[in-house]
Amino acid sequence: MDEEELQDDLRQFPARSALPRCLRSFPAVYLTLFLTSLLLLTLSALALARVSSISSKLHQEPLERNFTDSDSFLFPCGADSPEWEYFSGHCYYFSLARTSWERALEQCRERGAGLAVVGSFAEQQFLMSRTRNERFWIGLSDRNSEGNWEWVDGTDYTSAFTFWKEGEPNDSGRNEDCAHLWISGKWNDVHCTFECFFICERPLAPKSPNPH
Ligand code: BGC
Ligand code: CA
Repeated sequence: MDEEELQDDLRQFPARSALPRCLRSFPAVYLTLFLTSLLLLTLSALALARVSSISSKLHQEPLERNFTDSDSFLFPCGADSPEWEYFSGHCYYFSLARTSWERALEQCRERGAGLAVVGSFAEQQFLMSRTRNERFWIGLSDRNSEGNWEWVDGTDYTSAFTFWKEGEPNDSGRNEDCAHLWISGKWNDVHCTFECFFICERPLAPKSPNPH
C-alpha cells in the first residue's frame, strides 16, 4: 500500500483513527469474547452442580413408581414383572434356563405359580408360539404310579385335553415319568432329571381395589 492509498483510507475512516489508543489495542470484540466465556463457564458450573445434586438424590431414595392404567393394559400380569405373559385369564413365565422337572416345579412355586397345565388347544397354541422348538416342562407326570398321568393342579387327566406326539408317552427305557413340550410343541415323556426349560402358570391376580 503506497502513501497515497493510505491517506485515502484515513480520509474514508476518520472515526477509527480517532479511537483512543487503549481501545485500539484492546478491541471490544475481545472484551465480548471474554465476558461470553465467563458467562458460559458460570452456566456450566451451575448445570454441573444441579446434575450432581439430582444424581446424589437418585442414589439416596428409591424411585416411587405408580403404575398407571396404560401400564396394566400393556402388562396385565403386572408392570413390575413384565416377564410374565398373559393369556386368557392366566399368567405364564417361560424360563430362561434349563433344569430338572422337580426343580422346575419348585422354581414355579417360589414364584407363586405351578408348572403349566395345558387345558385346551388354544392354550397349547399360545405356549407353542413361545417355545421355539425347545423342550419346556409342563405340569404333567406319572411319577406316583406308572401310566397314571396327573396334572400338578389336580385337573383330571383322563377327561382333559392331551397333545402327545405320535407314539408318546412311551416310557422309553421304563424310566420316563415327566412330560415336556417337544419339537413342534407336541408332548413327550422323558426322565424327570433331564434338563429342560419350563413354563410356570398362575391365575391372573384379581385387581387390588382402587384406594381412592
Ligand atoms: C424317543 C422318545 C424319548 C426320547 C428321550 C426319543 O428318541 O422317541 O420317546 O422320550 O428319545 O430323549
Ligand atoms: Ca418318550
